[in-house]
Amino acid sequence: MSLLIISLKSSSFFELRQQVRQAAALADWIEIRLDLMPNESISDLMSLSQLTTLPILWTLRTTGQGGAFEGSSTEYLARLRELLTWNPAWIDLEAWVHLEDYQTLVELSPQTGWIVSWHELAPFSQNLENYYQQLIRLPATYYKLALFVHTAVDSLRLLDFAKEKNQQVSSLCVIGLGKQGQSTRILAPVVNCPFTYAALSKKRKTALGQLTAYELLKTYHWRDLNSQTQLFGLIGHPVHQSLSHLTHNAVFKEAHLNAVYIKFELDAKDLSPFLVQFQQLNGQGLSVTMPFKEEIVQFLTEPIPYLTCNTLAWKNQCLVGTNTDGIGTLNALGIPVEDEKVLILGAGGAAKAIAQTAVQQGAQVAILNRTPQKADQLAKQIGGKSGSLKDFKTFQKAGFHLIIQATSAGMGNHDTPIPPDQLDSNSRVIEVIAWPEETQFLKNARKIGCETISGREVFIQQALEQLSYWFGSQLDRLLVEKTLRRKIEESTVCVRESQLQGNLRLPASKSHSIRAILLATLCQGISSIQHLLLDSPDIQVALQASQQLGGQINYTTDSVTIQGVAGHPHLSSKIIDVGNSGQVLRFAGALAALSSQEVILTGDLSIRTQRPVQALIEGLHQLGVETLSIAKNGYAPYLVKGPLSPGKVTMNGKDSQPVSALLMAAAFVEGITTIQVMQAGEKPWLQLTLSWLDRLHVNYTHQGLEYFKIQGQPIRAPFQTTIPGDWSSAAFILVAALITHSTVTIEQVPFDDVQGDQAIVPLLQQLGAQISVDREKGELTVHPSPPLKGGIIDVNAIIDAVPILAVLGCFGIEKLILVNGAIARQKECDRLHCIVKELKKMGAIIEETADGLTVSPSSLHGAIVKSYEDHRIALALIVAGLATPEETLVQSTACIRKSYPHFVQQLQELGACIDEEIA
Ligand code: ATR
Repeated sequence: MSLLIISLKSSSFFELRQQVRQAAALADWIEIRLDLMPNESISDLMSLSQLTTLPILWTLRTTGQGGAFEGSSTEYLARLRELLTWNPAWIDLEAWVHLEDYQTLVELSPQTGWIVSWHELAPFSQNLENYYQQLIRLPATYYKLALFVHTAVDSLRLLDFAKEKNQQVSSLCVIGLGKQGQSTRILAPVVNCPFTYAALSKKRKTALGQLTAYELLKTYHWRDLNSQTQLFGLIGHPVHQSLSHLTHNAVFKEAHLNAVYIKFELDAKDLSPFLVQFQQLNGQGLSVTMPFKEEIVQFLTEPIPYLTCNTLAWKNQCLVGTNTDGIGTLNALGIPVEDEKVLILGAGGAAKAIAQTAVQQGAQVAILNRTPQKADQLAKQIGGKSGSLKDFKTFQKAGFHLIIQATSAGMGNHDTPIPPDQLDSNSRVIEVIAWPEETQFLKNARKIGCETISGREVFIQQALEQLSYWFGSQLDRLLVEKTLRRKIEESTVCVRESQLQGNLRLPASKSHSIRAILLATLCQGISSIQHLLLDSPDIQVALQASQQLGGQINYTTDSVTIQGVAGHPHLSSKIIDVGNSGQVLRFAGALAALSSQEVILTGDLSIRTQRPVQALIEGLHQLGVETLSIAKNGYAPYLVKGPLSPGKVTMNGKDSQPVSALLMAAAFVEGITTIQVMQAGEKPWLQLTLSWLDRLHVNYTHQGLEYFKIQGQPIRAPFQTTIPGDWSSAAFILVAALITHSTVTIEQVPFDDVQGDQAIVPLLQQLGAQISVDREKGELTVHPSPPLKGGIIDVNAIIDAVPILAVLGCFGIEKLILVNGAIARQKECDRLHCIVKELKKMGAIIEETADGLTVSPSSLHGAIVKSYEDHRIALALIVAGLATPEETLVQSTACIRKSYPHFVQQLQELGACIDEEIA
């Protein structure tokens, strides 16, 4: 078993103490680099041992060995002698020390263990045995050989050497310094190295090419690796953009396969020696990317039926291969392409494999390329038509409506091979580029109403085929597909202490957007909605629900028009899947009840377990609707069969959405409906719904938002609207600016809107925040403010602000007590419980009460925290990370797309140190 040593350095003793605590949660040992902390006394540093039960390794790396200690050899030994008076657990000793000097040191503290090390940045030498002999001159428990490696082949050679030396006793640790040497760190347990080193965070790397402990443990499942582990990897140039190491390793873990997958950047000249070395280390398979897909074919021992190869495997000592690009792309389509007219854009490696596979499956293929000669050549090879990208329209007219985008245009930029006006809305479009998730080409296609399949789907199908090629029937394909999908949809945000500065505009309000879409669906005629939050999955499901209710949608740049059903939904589907949207779950259900057709509303796991529909079911029932929770547990899936009639309802309104849902439905049914709300809560959201009824000229009265009388009618005129910015999102920006003592201005603030979360501004001001409000200009500016006061806050009316107020409380000078917020437990997750759990990981002094939180001033530090797939938890934790001295990793942040898709990008533009990557 190999040990994980986290190597620490810091500019302050205080931070180092925090790092020791953080490292203790992940490491087996901790290394303190004395040479990187020259201003601290040994006695202070030694006190760190009291913070952890883990052994500490003390290292004083000299400049000659790549460290920062500039003293002479005499000074080096003197410093070690001083250290030894404290009986340290382990010391790293550089191998140039004379044997006699070493023996004297050993006698000073017989309990101390020794690692003899040698570091070299000079060009890699083949003669590893010489280095080894130099090391073992000094008898020690462990030896460490760290050499700079320029190629992946050298890295594998080092590993092979360690494997041989560690056969009997695990005593030699090899490290390939530099980016090309990362495999030596990952594969330490595979070649029986006694340990390897990792950094606590990306910012704190202590050696070239060092990985973080998080990467080793979470990405490579380092603790599961051993001498039996099978090796897989990716070869190409460049490989940094590929995320296959994240997906494939996740599959290995999930499928209990003793295997690991590593990316290797290679030069063409290294291909041949690499294949030899890789196989020697139990290499079983490789993914191949550009520029080797054609070149690699010559290394295969058996011919393959493809022009290019993207998958290699060693089977019975023979190197065999296949290409999964084509089959992956066509599988993503979900239906056979036999007799289809398929138009492929591009004539590179990916296009070749796809064209060939499509022809094999019986499709008629045409290839269009920027350089038409290459398209002609490929068309000749496979038997198809060809042309230039400029011929696109002609081919569409000739019936080529299945379009596969296989050029590299749009990879990391906004290029598109075809201008938007060329696309036909009845085309089906597949994108091969997986990152970004939606290329400009795909966005254009989606907006004009084409059916689109993203590159992520293609990647998943391609990877599934590749993994099946390697593992055959051993693999549960369903499990693999699920894991790939989960991994790809997930992302992690890495945040560091930051200062912000600048202006921004808030995202469009999700609540207004959803109400606008669903109400437009019920109106008569065409409504137009500008500035929609189109990138949010909740808005996507609202639009889909609109179509399922009979709405006809047309897209333009950031707006849609909806032709409504004049109060009479005609359902085109038996199931409405609301994804993760609680609002669509309730609103679409009530509106569907205006029809006499039966429909089932369901959603993801959080919808089915966290978002009750019982109050809505009871309300609908009183209006003559047949409705029930199918599992009889008060949650979705739930069935609705109208028609809804006007009448009298008494319902629970702790959660405001069921009440809003009935208000909206009642507006479209002929006659008078009254709603008596018991335990009415979240009243500002009801106010927001009423503002929509006003816009639709609905006649209604209410008493204190607890009793409503609505005069309904099916026919209502359409409307034109621009969705205002989202006040719930503003809270995250305001708090981010406050806790980082920054100056940030929010523009186009909807001061005149009814959104209840506006109340956040006076609340923060009351706590001492310096926020200037310019209603005329529509601007809010946060100025650096003294730490905020505390107090008791009733959060019922600003319930979505609970997680971010919890963060704010940690940075105050007094206790902040949030009350009347029990409904926060029934959002995407139990927000009271989850925010407490995660902020505690960051050192917060915070407690959960039955209906709120008690937050004390705390000194937060970085940590690995998670969102529970709840956007407001994710956003709050990211904000917390902006004001902590150590790096914070927030896992599962894809959910922020729900309400604030461009949050990370906006923070980056304000100067935040923040990166988004998939988990
Ligand atoms: P891959 O292996 O990913 O297919 P490749 O072999 O380098 O990569 O092929 C890239 C393809 O994208 C080519 O068809 C290329 O067109 P050319 O043959 O004219 O070079 C196409 N391509 C790259 N950038 C493009 C752009 N901006 N617009 C249109 N086509 C582009």
